[in-house]
Amino acid sequence: MTERVLVTGGAGFVGAHVVVELARNGYKPVVLDDFSNSTPAIRSRLEAVAGMPIPVISSDIRDVTALRTAFHDYPIASVIHCAGLKKVAESQSRPLGYYDINVGGALALAQVMGEAGVATLVFSSAASVYGASGMTSVDEDAPAQPVSVHGRTKLVVENFLRDLAQANVNWRIAIVRGFNPSGAHSSGMMGEAPRGPATHLLPQLARVAAGEANELVVCGDDWDTPDGTCVRDYVHVQDVADAFVRALRHIAKRQDGTLTVNVGSGRGHSVLEVIAAFERACGRAIPRVIGPRRSGDVARSCANPARAAAVLEWRASRDLDAICADAWRWQKNGGRY
Ligand SMILES: NC(=O)c1ccc[n+]([C@@H]2O[C@H](COP(=O)([O-])OP(=O)(O)OC[C@H]3O[C@@H](n4cnc5c(N)ncnc54)[C@H](O)[C@@H]3O)[C@@H](O)[C@H]2O)c1
Repeated sequence: MTERVLVTGGAGFVGAHVVVELARNGYKPVVLDDFSNSTPAIRSRLEAVAGMPIPVISSDIRDVTALRTAFHDYPIASVIHCAGLKKVAESQSRPLGYYDINVGGALALAQVMGEAGVATLVFSSAASVYGASGMTSVDEDAPAQPVSVHGRTKLVVENFLRDLAQANVNWRIAIVRGFNPSGAHSSGMMGEAPRGPATHLLPQLARVAAGEANELVVCGDDWDTPDGTCVRDYVHVQDVADAFVRALRHIAKRQDGTLTVNVGSGRGHSVLEVIAAFERACGRAIPRVIGPRRSGDVARSCANPARAAAVLEWRASRDLDAICADAWRWQKNGGRY
């Protein structure tokens, strides 16, 4: 029988791409999402791109009763947990909300998985757990010293999951530390569609290029980087989804402790370099102004993806130009579901 995989946050940017990648690999995904940063309208796109019906459960991840019903109604064998709040700057002013949803959501999920006897879990963690390591290429053994509330909530969940696996060897857990998932599905049918103002660089650029916003605000040009703007490791969202599915396959086959793995391209690009790449993709100039630094930001964040290559045989296959081209195609198609 084809394996059912629950994708929490499966209507969101990363989760939706995970859903279609699961389908492409012969799994049957089920989505659970409260649509706080997405829309139920995504379902028809998911089904069109995945080529199969996708059950969608509308629920808060902290709702234990709804989770029990989901595990009762579907023969779920494993979970990819993407539901949560992701905005680093926002997390600084909303610690209660971030701990409640990111940590409380993981606790509720693990509780119900335990009751249902489902012990295979891939968790969408983030590069923000590393904080300001100062390293140009950070590997998984680098100290986790998050400087943002977002990063601290991710680290709490990571440690909780390691404790869980330590206490009960039945758990098979992968912690995927995503760097900057970006771009859109190459079909042009799926992409980043945040509710309200965009906070991530690629959707911001797309909206400026499309005339939906007047200018891009660059958050600081006095960072300790070659051109003074923040350096990030942008990795195509389809490559990220591929890494999640490989991580799931890996832990389902092997039981050798909790896997922690970076998912990044290994290349850093400054904000100014990304603007230039987006201008090449859309053929227009992007007006920009320099604004203040954002709270919780770090100068650079770039992955050493060697473990993903060694353990998952994964590497990013699409570069920054492909990311920008796909993000622009999605924007030209409306940029919304
Ligand atoms: N996009 C990034 O830059 C990035 C980088 C590293 C890690 N991550 C992590 O990956 C995960 C997914 O990120 P994304 O970019 O797809 O974000 P997203 O906001 O697009 O997707 C998250 C989804 O979770 C849902 N959600 C939020 N709170 C919920 C709740 N209480 N109950 C049920 N559903 C809820 C939202 O409606 C949304 O559909 C997040 O945990 C994020 O921290 C994202």
